[in-house]
Formats: sequence, C-alpha cells, structure tokens
Amino acid sequence: MKKGLVLLVLIFGNIISGMAETKLNIVPTPNKIVMGEGTFMVKRGLSISTEDVRDFSALYLQEKLNGALDFPVQITTAKGGKNTIIFITDSTIPAEGYKLTVTPENVTIASSDMGGKYYGVQTLLQLFPAGIYSGASLRLKEYPLETVTIEDAPRFSYRGFMLDVSRTFFDLDYLRSYIDWMSAHKLNRLHLHLTDDNGWRIEIKKYPELTTKGAWRGKDELIPPTYLSGDERYGGYYTQKEMKELIKYAQERNIMIIPEFDLPGHSLSSTKVFGNVTCGTSTDTPSACGEFDNVWCVGKESNYKILENIIKELASVFPCPYVNIGGDEVIFDYWRQCPDCQAVMEREGFKDVEELHGYFVRRMEKIINKYGKVMMGWDDIQDFGGLNPTSTVVAWRSQSKGVESIKKGQPTIMQAAQYLYVDMQYTPAERGHSWAAIIPLDRIYSYDPLQDMELTPEEEKLVLGVQAGLWTELMQFPPRFSEYQVFPRLCAVAETGWSAKEDKNYEDFHSRLVNKHYDRLYSMGIAFRVEPPKVVYEDSELKVTLPYPSAVVRYTTDGTEPTSVSKVYSGKIITNTPEDFRFSTFFSRDLHSIAVAAENVTLHHYITPKVKVETDIPIWEKSKLEDLTTYNFNKRVRSKERLQAGQTLTYIFDEPIECNTIHIPTGYTNIPFYGVSNGYVEYSYDGVNFIKGEEFYRYHAYIRNPEKGVKAVRIVITGPNDGYSCNFQNLKIE
Ligand code: ACM
Ligand code: ZN
Repeated sequence: MKKGLVLLVLIFGNIISGMAETKLNIVPTPNKIVMGEGTFMVKRGLSISTEDVRDFSALYLQEKLNGALDFPVQITTAKGGKNTIIFITDSTIPAEGYKLTVTPENVTIASSDMGGKYYGVQTLLQLFPAGIYSGASLRLKEYPLETVTIEDAPRFSYRGFMLDVSRTFFDLDYLRSYIDWMSAHKLNRLHLHLTDDNGWRIEIKKYPELTTKGAWRGKDELIPPTYLSGDERYGGYYTQKEMKELIKYAQERNIMIIPEFDLPGHSLSSTKVFGNVTCGTSTDTPSACGEFDNVWCVGKESNYKILENIIKELASVFPCPYVNIGGDEVIFDYWRQCPDCQAVMEREGFKDVEELHGYFVRRMEKIINKYGKVMMGWDDIQDFGGLNPTSTVVAWRSQSKGVESIKKGQPTIMQAAQYLYVDMQYTPAERGHSWAAIIPLDRIYSYDPLQDMELTPEEEKLVLGVQAGLWTELMQFPPRFSEYQVFPRLCAVAETGWSAKEDKNYEDFHSRLVNKHYDRLYSMGIAFRVEPPKVVYEDSELKVTLPYPSAVVRYTTDGTEPTSVSKVYSGKIITNTPEDFRFSTFFSRDLHSIAVAAENVTLHHYITPKVKVETDIPIWEKSKLEDLTTYNFNKRVRSKERLQAGQTLTYIFDEPIECNTIHIPTGYTNIPFYGVSNGYVEYSYDGVNFIKGEEFYRYHAYIRNPEKGVKAVRIVITGPNDGYSCNFQNLKIE
C-alpha cells in the first residue's frame, strides 16, 4: 500500500473499510476492516497455536481446515512463529469481540473470552472458499489469504433466534444444525418454545405423562391432530439427558439455550395431561390459535405446587440464567366464572379479571427466583407491572410494547412480529402467514431494535438485543420449509444484532449475499430461499428482471414448474401465449425459487356460474355462507367448531355446468391451515344422484373431466378435521 493510502485509511478508516468489507463479503459485517498488502499463503506445515490443546475453538478450526486442505493441520501449545494461526488472550478486547490479523507471516486471533475466540474463527473461515463449511474435502494444496486486520465486537449482547418446537417437532440433529448455522452468524441465544397447545417437548421426571401423553397428537391421542399432522400419531420430545448434551453443544458454540414453558394459556398439552388444573369453566371464545380449555386456573393452590415442581426441574436442566414462562394470549373468561379464581380476586382486591394475570406472573416470578433464575416472558407479562427489575421481557406485539416494558424498567428483547416473525410470507405469492406483515428480506434488514423509541441513554441499556422467531404451524410440509423461512432472513437479523448501526446498508448486505454468502449457506447445507425473478408481459415480450446479476433463471413454456434442465433465460422472449410460461431462479440443481409467471397476465380463466350453498355444518357467526357463491378467492367461510363425520356442504349450480376441472380448495386461501382432512367430494349431473370422487388430500380435492354438465358438488365429511374449525372456499372451475 502506498504511503498516501495508508494515511487515507487512518483518516477515512470507515470509508475504506466499507469498501474492503464488500470485497471480503463478511456477514455480519465487522466494525472495522483494514486491508494490508500481500497475502498469507496457507500451505503444508500450518499449525494452530493455543494455550490448551483441548480448546474447542482450536479443535473446531482444525476440523474445518482439515476438511478443506490437502494436508493435516496440527494444534500446538508452542508459541506461534511463522505459518501459524495463533490464539492470543487480550483482556482489552470487549466481550465476544475479537481482533483477527492476517500478515504475510502468520494469522492471529485475539480475544478476551471464548465467544470472541469462536467468532474470530468464524470470520477467518469466511476468508476461505465457501466450500469450507461443507465437510466435503476441498483438497486445497495452498490458499492465499489477503492480509487484513479486522476489529470486531457486537452491538447487542443478546442476538437470538426463537424456534417453536411444539407445533412442529425438530429432532436433535436438526437442532444441532440450527446451532451451527446460528453460530456461524454470531448469534448467541436459542430460545426454544418447548411447550404449547400442540405438544410438550421436554421430559419432566416427576410428571412423565407430560411427554408420554402430552408430546403426541393424533386421532387416538390426548391432543387432537392439527396443522396437517393428520390422524397419525405425531410428536416427540427431548429427554433431559439429550437436552443437556444439546446445551453443551450450543455452549461450545457460544449459544445459550433458553427454555420457554408457555403459561397459563397455550397450555393444552399440559392441561389435558393433568386434567384438573383448569378452572373447569367454559367459554365460546377460542384462544388465538383456536383452542379451548388450554388455560391453567390461577386460583387453585395445588397448581402452584405442580408448576414449582416443573420449574425446579427446568432450572436444573438448563444452566442459563432464565426460565421463560411465555404468558401470552390468555383467554380470561375461564377465570371470570371460577370460584377459586374469584376468591383470589376478592382476597387481593382486584376489580378486573385481567389483574389475575399479573398475580399469576408475579407468583411465577417468585418461584423462578427461588430456583436462582430470572423470569423471562412475552410482553404480556409486563401489562400489569410490579415485576422485579431483573425480569426480562420479549416484546412481540409491537415496538410500542417494547417501549412500555423499557419505561417500566424491564430488560427487553425486541422480537416485534411486524418485522421479526419469519413464519410470515416473503411475498404474497409464497407460503406463510401474513397477519403481522409481509416480510421480505429488505424489510427484516431495515429493522432497528431502537426504532420508534425515544429513550434516555440509561433506558437504551435495557434493550438487550433482538431476535427473530419461527412459529411452526406450517413447517411440517414441505420438508425443510423452516430453512426457507429462516434463511436468508436470519442473516439480516444477525447483522442487526451484531453490526454497528451506521455500517448497515441493504445494497451492500445484498451484494455480500449474492457474491459469496449464499454459497456459504449452500455449503452449510441450508435449503435457503432463492429469490425469484420478476416477470412482466409488455408489447408481446416477456420481460424478466433477474433478482441479481449472476442469477440463473430457467423457464418452461407449458405451464409446468421449471426444473434444473429447463431452458436458461438469456434474453428476449416474444410470445402470444404468455400465460404458459413459468420462471424460476436456480441457485443449484436442487435449490431454486418458486415458479413465477408474468405478474400482469391472467393465468386462470375460471368459470363463475350462479351457485347456492347448503350445509348442515354450524357456521361461525362472523362468517357468511353466501360468501361461497361469490368466486372471490380471498374469501373463506369458517365452521363454528371441529367437523363431524356425516356432515356435508353442497354447492348447487342453477344450471349444469360444462367444465374440465372443478377444484375444491379448503383451508386458508394460500396456506394449508384448518381445512378438510377427513372427507371426499362427490358430484351430480342431475342434483339427485351423486358419484363419489376424490378423497381430500392436504385440504384439496378435484373433480376432473366430468362426462357432462355438473349440477352439484358436495363435500362429505368422514371424520373430525385437524383444527378446531374448518374453512371452506369458493370453487375454482375451469
Ligand atoms: C406470540 O406470538 N403469541 C408470542
Ligand atoms: Zn380458576
């Protein structure tokens, strides 16, 4: 480097580092990068120098290097000389920070703690070819690392990911993968949502039925089927021994596992097992997820003994300082009618039944504190105040709920659903929920934990950090859909949690993804979301905008989904049948985007004959059966309760309708959620005699190529559906 440039680096360090950082494509972007001159040649004889040969970071680095290089790398306690990667302890480096220096002679990683050491290794790995993560032998004989000094430390101490293992069960191997993937992004908190209505996932020795019964759902189980798990027995759980092993695996990678035991609502998997822990009262109001009888009674003293026993075990299994009790979305009606709960209200002088929630939370706080732990919970736990200053809130309902919590003095983690719930759709064309927001990559990247907050510097310290969350109602199908929802959005959250606010820039982040980081994700084995192209039809031409300059887009001309051998888009497509074209971005043979058509072309020309609907299924008061006669495909009509065998819903046309296909969709309009899981369709040419057609498969059925005009279509229910209610939709007739 010329002298003048060195001076420029000193004066305009940030600007130069910004440029350099794009070149190294590090994610999350480091605080400071100063490129040097020349290279360090990785070659035979390379060793790792560390004080303790059993040190995890050194062993981990050795394993990764041995996978990539054509020669073995030794670990030594000898003070490092040339051709060595040297670990150094430097107490002036902030917690979890590191200084990585590559010179032509050697590489040093300085840190003050094991987290910083591990993250120094992670950044070093990002300087190698992306394939270093794959475990497949790269057989590099030598590899030049550019000389550089990287000084780095996190913005927030809490950089997390919440995974709901209740609604979908993830096995230990899969959790270990998530831990690897998180730690490669310098994320350090894994919040496991271990219990919810649909499954209890952690062994409690005193109450074995919580897992022998509460961990399973299905036709003959205590917990009814839901979320497409169907009539088969579905579930699983972690033994305490397994969980302890997982905790160790995570600790080695600087990740703390935080257990959540969701109370007093979202608790069907425990209320069903214990039977007598609810109030025994009833309500017509389902919980947010549509369940009934899933709320613990807060007036029965015996319940607190059970809860204490469970918390005592959780506290002994999980070494982290927290026990998270959830506390979200409770239906209070049960307590309103319960003599035990009413007695508490009277004794405590409460006016509103809601105050019982505060009472319950404060009692749980006492129990959790008794076992040496800090209480954590969703922002609902701070609604009634009176918490210990240590009790920690995860703000999910909104940014302002975070502000409320901070103003009350509680340490707070930001997981605002509108930005950080990665079960939401990326775009309206993709699978997922949308109730909080549609969350494309630039939106989640744009989030700042301190946005829309006016805080004093003291209050700011209460914002511990940020986490993304994955709720898993929709993750059972297709396989590995969780990875699609999580990546690359979690890369964005990692950068929000780690990097300095002023160093964040979406274009730069995106260029690092496409230049190298997608390759790293692929090499890690992540089935991440590939960005689809954008297609419009104008002046007889299909105009394709690639999602990024190097993207490979393939297409078909017969309406089918492109495959890895479909034609590659390479320029102008002139056509007068644009509705027959489909396009996908192919990252590799096995990883590609959704298939898209031109966004301004009508793909289906549905027939919309006059129709009426008859049913003996009780319909929810807020639904109108007539909505099923509108051919508005955004409308759905909901049953009041779970369906029963023998019920029917019949669409009757004014006149028999000639058509090729009748599609009978049920469930939500874009996602498989609360549809017909046990049933078939039948159809009639005369409105009197019916012919049996297909069984419903994943909430859908079709009538194909009827021989003549169809007068009526009937849905026949043969068993309960796998949801507390069922949604019906308009017919799609072509
Ligand atoms: C939540 O989404 N109920 C925390
Ligand atoms: Zn009660």
